[in-house]
Formats: sequence, structure tokens, C-alpha cells
Amino acid sequence: MDTLICQLDEQNLNHQWIEKAGAILAGGGLVAFPTETVYGLGADALNDAAAARIYLAKGRPSDNPLIVHIAEVEALNEVASYVPANAYRLADAFWPGPLTMILNKSDQVPLSTTGGLDTVAVRMPSNPLALEIIKASGTYIAAPSANISGKPSPTSAKHVIDDLNGKVDMIIDGGAVTIGIESTIIDLTGSIPMILRPGMITREMLCLVLGEVAVDPAILAPESAGNIRPKAPGMKYKHYAPSGELILIEGDAAAVIKRINQLVREKEKEDFNVGVMATDETLAAYHCRNKISMGSRLDYKTIAHHLYDTLRRFDTLDVDYIFCESFHQKDGWQAIMNRLLKAAGYRVIKV
Ligand code: TXA
Ligand code: MG
Repeated sequence: MDTLICQLDEQNLNHQWIEKAGAILAGGGLVAFPTETVYGLGADALNDAAAARIYLAKGRPSDNPLIVHIAEVEALNEVASYVPANAYRLADAFWPGPLTMILNKSDQVPLSTTGGLDTVAVRMPSNPLALEIIKASGTYIAAPSANISGKPSPTSAKHVIDDLNGKVDMIIDGGAVTIGIESTIIDLTGSIPMILRPGMITREMLCLVLGEVAVDPAILAPESAGNIRPKAPGMKYKHYAPSGELILIEGDAAAVIKRINQLVREKEKEDFNVGVMATDETLAAYHCRNKISMGSRLDYKTIAHHLYDTLRRFDTLDVDYIFCESFHQKDGWQAIMNRLLKAAGYRVIKV
């Protein structure tokens, strides 16, 4: 299939292309577009066949449910059978923005969109292009991250083109995304709201609005991954993975640098191509051909912004091993560590 690729600027929305994207979506087609978190691969969330095409294009297991994207809070009543007061509180505080809520689904939403579940994930993105495209479609838009299943999520149109050119009807290039990792997911169907996927809207921020907020134990105890079944089906799959083997090194800064340099020497001696994922503060201390800084250790937003792009850059460098510094798990860092641990298949060396 020929994929239509067009560049659009958030400041200068070209309505001809927005209308085109809306028409493709309304007709059951696939359009990849930027959101503030990562690029999404959109299809009509209320159309069985359209949702099925998403799974096919991504190579995604069909029991992994999709997030339904809306452009107005009123749409909550359409996609959910019941909207609790907490949902409106969260919408007030964080929408449009990087927060996804799990609610009980309405009959309108097909089971192909929800992966067979009676619940539905809903999000109102803040990216103006995303909002305009949803409105132009006249429906709600199911959109997983626009990557081949198992690859790091796309944070630029180039990543989407690399993965999906020829497999989707249209790709909207709106430049680099601002946040760089996927939305926080919170389940509002139980007695206590529960975070199923950490993101840049942190537990602390959610607690300010909701009071008590729990975290899915599968996120908090990654070392037991595989034993505890995560409540977001997608969190159980190996994910975000680069082609090389990623290993995290955890401990005191000086000891981490020493161990990573030692591992680089060992693997290079065995003729492997090796990479180091470092930070601004530590980059100069590594002796390695392929070293990339993700940003400052003092600024989790910059690290989140560069995380997936860095993983993809190591793919282009064709490295066999990537050694990466680890971070603590407080506030925004929890989301970063969640993605890194998954990308590493939970391989961690403690020093
Ligand atoms: O930031 C984001 O959320 C991006 C952009 C495109 O909006 N989307 C995204 O979608 O990350 P995806 O499909 O890559 O991840 C959706 C996650 C999966 O882990 C899935 O299992 C979970 O949401 N999910 C969806 N519906 C659910 C439900 N009803 N109950 C529990 N988890 C659900
Ligand atoms: Mg994804």
C-alpha cells in the first residue's frame, strides 16, 4: 500500500490534510499522528474491522487492548457505561494531557478495541494536531503507539516511517513529540484508583486530586515480573526493546562507571560492538566508541524525552550490548525505570 506522508505544523494547521486524515479514519483506514507522549497509530475505535487493521499493521497480539482517544470530556459518557466523579476530577486536573483512565465500557465500544475486556482505556491528548484529527474524524480514535510491536515507541515521524511505511494509509509528521514516553494509566473501576502504567503524571500528582492511589504491584516489584500478572495486559509483553542486549547497572555512581568500563573492555575484547547509555554528568568518564547521553541526571523530563530515540540510535549503530546507568524510582523517574527495566528484560547488575 502507498502511505501518504505529510508534514504539519502545530502552529499552522493545514486543514486540507486534517480533513483528509479525518476522512481516512472515518472510512476505516489507519492514520499515524503525533501526540504529546509518543506517535499513535489511529483507527476508528467504534469500528471492529478498523481496530483489527491496527493489530495487523503493528503485529500486535489481539488480546492487548487499545486506548480510545477523545477530543471532548463529554465523550466520556459515550465510551463509558458509567463515569465516576473521580474521572471528572482527573479530567479537570490533567486533560487534555498524558493521562489514560480505565472505565467500564459502553456497548458502543467493540470488544476488538478493548481486547475482549469489559473496560475501556480513554485519553484526551493535548497535541493540537491530535485533537484536530480526532474532531475531523467525527468518531473516537483507537491509537496504540505507532511502532512495530516490541520496538521502542516512536517519538518522531522518522521512527514511524521506519516501522510502518507501506502498512498504513497516512503518516502525519508533526515533528518530535514533547514528552517522549507513554501516558500514565490509572484504573478507576476498583474501590481504590490504581496506576497500571507509570508516566509523567506521577502518583504524587494523582494523590493531590484523588487522595489515595495504589500502584499495580507488578510495577513496584519488577524483580518478580513473570510471577505477578500486570493488570494492563500490554505491560506483560517484552517491550520497548532495542536489537542489542540492554543491561542496567545499578549502584553508587563511581562504582557504576567503573563496572560499565570494565564490561565494555571485556565485550570489546570478545569483538562485540558495545554501546553505553550515559548521562551528561558521566559521559566523559566512559571509554567506549558508542556512547550517548540521554540528558542530565537532575532532569527526568529530558531523559524521558530522549529515552526511546537513544534506544533506536543504538539499533542503527548495530550494537550487540548496551550498558545503561540506572536511576532511582521516585516521582517521574519511576516511569523511566519502568521502561528501561522492560527494555532490558529485567537484566540488572548491582554493584
Ligand atoms: O501515551 C499513550 O498512551 C500512547 C499515545 C499514542 O496515546 N498510547 C499508547 O498505547 O501507549 P499502547 O497501545 O502502546 O499502550 C496501551 C496500554 C497497554 O499496556 C494496554 O494493555 C493498556 O494500555 N490498556 C488498554 N486498555 C486497557 C484496559 N481496558 N484495561 C487495562 N489496560 C488497558
Ligand atoms: Mg505501545
